[in-house]
Amino acid sequence: MAETQQETVFKSVLELANNNEVPEKYIYAQGSINTSPPLLAVPQVDLSLLTSPDRQQELNKLQSGLKSCGCIQVINHGIEDSFLDKVREISKQFFALPTEEKLKYARTVNQIEGYGNDKVLTDNQRLDWSDRLYLNVFPEDIRKLQFWPQKPECFREVFEKYIKDMKLLSESLLKSMAASLSVEENCFLDQCGEHGNMIARFNFYPLCPRPDVVLGVKQHADSSAITILLQDKEVEGLQVLKDDQWFRVPVVPYGLLINVGDQVEIMSNGIFKSPVHRVLTNAERERNTLAIFIMPDVAVGIGPVEKLINEERPRAYKDIKNYVELFFQSYQQGKRPIEAAKISQELH
Ligand code: OGA
Ligand code: NI
Repeated sequence: MAETQQETVFKSVLELANNNEVPEKYIYAQGSINTSPPLLAVPQVDLSLLTSPDRQQELNKLQSGLKSCGCIQVINHGIEDSFLDKVREISKQFFALPTEEKLKYARTVNQIEGYGNDKVLTDNQRLDWSDRLYLNVFPEDIRKLQFWPQKPECFREVFEKYIKDMKLLSESLLKSMAASLSVEENCFLDQCGEHGNMIARFNFYPLCPRPDVVLGVKQHADSSAITILLQDKEVEGLQVLKDDQWFRVPVVPYGLLINVGDQVEIMSNGIFKSPVHRVLTNAERERNTLAIFIMPDVAVGIGPVEKLINEERPRAYKDIKNYVELFFQSYQQGKRPIEAAKISQELH
C-alpha cells in the first residue's frame, strides 16, 4: 500500500497490537509495574445531595476525598445510564473504524489535536500504549471540526450533548468544592473564567501482550483545574499514587471519576491534591475511557484563594498566568510541573 502523508506521522498502537509487536520504546524496566496493588477507597459523592439544602455531609465527603486521594466518584449526577453507554459506544466505534477512515482525522506532526498517540520527542522516551482522539471543545470558536469524526454517524450529536452535560457538571462541582472549604462559592469557577477551555481526550488501550512492562499512560498529574473521567464500564486500569504507594481505582459503571488537577491544587493553596496517576495495560481486554479536562482561561490567571492563606497554611504557590505553558516546559525536563509553581522554602 502506498504510504499516505499521515501514515508517516505515527503508527497506531492498535496496529502494533494486531501484529503482536512491542517495540523497545514501549518497555519499562523489568518488574517495575505492580499490576495488582490494593484497591483505593474512593468516596462516592451523590450529586443530587450536593445540590440540596441539606448538603453538609456530602460536602464533607467531597472535601475529604479531594484532600486525601485527590479524587471522588460522582453518582446520581442526573446523566442517564443509557446515555453514558452511548458515549462509550461512539468511542468504541470510532477506534474500531478502518485505519484509512481514522486517518482522515489524524493530527499533524506538530499538533496534538486530532487522532494520534505520543509524539516522539527524544530517543530514550518511553511511549504510552494507547491511541487517542484529542478535541478542543470550548470555547466554541476554537473547535476544529475537521477533527470531529463523522463516523459513527451519531458521533457529533451524542458528543455535543455529553459536553453540555460536562459543562454544567464542572460548574456545579467547582462551586461545591469551594463551598466545602467554606469560601465564596464562585472563587474557583471565576478563576477558570468565562472563556475557559474544555478539552476532550478519548483514550483507547488496545490489548497488550506485556502488561508487566508496558504502561497505557505513564505516570503524570493533570494540568487541568479538574478532570472528569468516564471510565470503561468493566475494565480497570487506572492507578493513583497515595502516600508513595500505588492503588487501583475501582470501576463504578455509571459513576464519573473526578480528579483534582494541578490548577485546583494551586487555587486551594494545596488543600486539594492533584494526584499522580498512571494507566496499566491488559492482555485480555481492551479498554476505552473519555477524559474531559476543565482548563482555566489563560487570560485570567490563577493563584491561591486569599481566604485559604493564613499563618498555619502560608501561601504555597505563586500566581500564574499560563500554567499549561509552564506544565509542558517542566514535563519535557522530566520534572513534576507543579513544583515550578511552588514558592521555594527560602522565601519564608
Ligand atoms: C488522562 C488519564 C486515565 C484513564 O487521560 O489524563 O489519566 O484511565 N486517563 O484513561
Ligand atoms: Ni490523567
